[in-house]
Parts: sequence; structure tokens; C-alpha cells
Amino acid sequence: MAGYEKPDFWTLKAKKEGYPARSVYKLEEIVAKFGLIKSTGPKILDIGAAPGSWSLWLLRKLAGRGSVTAVDIQDLGISPPDPNFNFIKGSILDEAIRARLGQSGPYSLVVSDAAPSTTGNRLVDQARSEELVESVMDLAVHVLAPGGSLIMKIFQSGEEKRLITQLKAHFTQARGYKPDACRAQSFETYLVGLGFCKS
Ligand SMILES: C[S@@+](CC[C@H](N)C(=O)[O-])C[C@H]1O[C@@H](n2cnc3c(N)ncnc32)[C@H](O)[C@@H]1O
Repeated sequence: MAGYEKPDFWTLKAKKEGYPARSVYKLEEIVAKFGLIKSTGPKILDIGAAPGSWSLWLLRKLAGRGSVTAVDIQDLGISPPDPNFNFIKGSILDEAIRARLGQSGPYSLVVSDAAPSTTGNRLVDQARSEELVESVMDLAVHVLAPGGSLIMKIFQSGEEKRLITQLKAHFTQARGYKPDACRAQSFETYLVGLGFCKS
């Protein structure tokens, strides 16, 4: 078995706790690090939500005191019977989907773990990830409530500085953060925007 596929600590923990993906611990760490989800009754948008670990973790964390809208081009692997959960199947590049997501807002937190399917060609994968991130950013500034926050995944490419500068035009604070739960060999990282300022 290739080293990358070997179940590690986080994979085993996710299985034990009923999450379909280990990526849940990246979100948990980022939320704790930046003190997000403090307000009561937050409305959260989860972009690139399948198979559903982030949504499930958010719903458990909210415990009925807020709502989660999830979007993905793929079906979820979870179906939480929670009246505070809403899944929209489609691409955030699609105008009709963006409009539907806007109708469920404004959100106090937008999280995006969205990633293009990888080709193995790092340059192609980075370019696709950047395109997706630009789209997430554009959507977030249309659907976030003032004071809201944004967490989004990006494949590291050297473009992070430029994207953080772009974020700083809309947020009082913006920075990159790589959670410990990211695989050591992974070239993904996260960008975080805090204190959304509606222009
Ligand atoms: C790494 S997975 C997300 C894992 C998820 N956070 C979890 O914990 O279960 C990335 C997801 O991004 C989705 N995605 C990629 N492009 C997208 C797009 N244009 N619109 C919506 N979702 C997209 C993929 O279908 C994939 O399910």
C-alpha cells in the first residue's frame, strides 16, 4: 500500500467519530485557532461540502443554535435529519446556484474546502484551484454578513500573497494558515479572512 493511502491518526479518529473524511480536523483546528463560531445562531455556508464531514462537524458544534447550507457538485455521503441543514447540489461557478446560495444568506461564516479533481500535473491543478478560490472569494463577498469570516482551501502556488492582499480589501484581517491535520506531503493550505467589511 502506498504511504499516502495508509490510514493515519486523523483518518482513524474520523472513522471512530463517524466522519466520512479526515479533513474535519483541519476545520476544527482553524475554527479554534481564530475563535470562530462564537456568536449565537450563526448561518454558515459550506462550499465543496462532499462527502460531508465539515457540515456534520458544524451541525454538531451548533447543536441546533444555527444553520448550515452546503453546496457541492457531488452528492453528500451523509444525510443528517436536521431542520437546520440544507444541501444544494451544483457548482458554485453556476450563476443559478450562486443566486440560490445568496437567497439562503447572508452568512456569518463561509467555509470552503472545495478543490478541483487533480490531474497529477501540479501546474494545471494549481491553476484550477486558483480559479476556484477566486470564485469562492467573489461569492463570499456577495453573501457574507458584515463582520463575517471566510475560510478557504487553496493549493500552494506562490499566489497566496496576492490572494491575501485581495482579501485584505474586504476583511479587517487576512492571512494564510496550514493546520497540523494537513498531510505533511500535501501542498494545500488555507486562507482566512476575519471581519468582513461590506463596501
Ligand atoms: C476535499 S473535498 C471536500 C471535503 C469536505 N470538506 C468534507 O469534509 O467532507 C472537495 C470538494 O469540492 C467539490 N467541488 C469542486 N469544485 C466545485 C464547484 N465548482 N462547486 C462546488 N463544489 C465543488 C468537490 O466535488 C469535492 O467534493
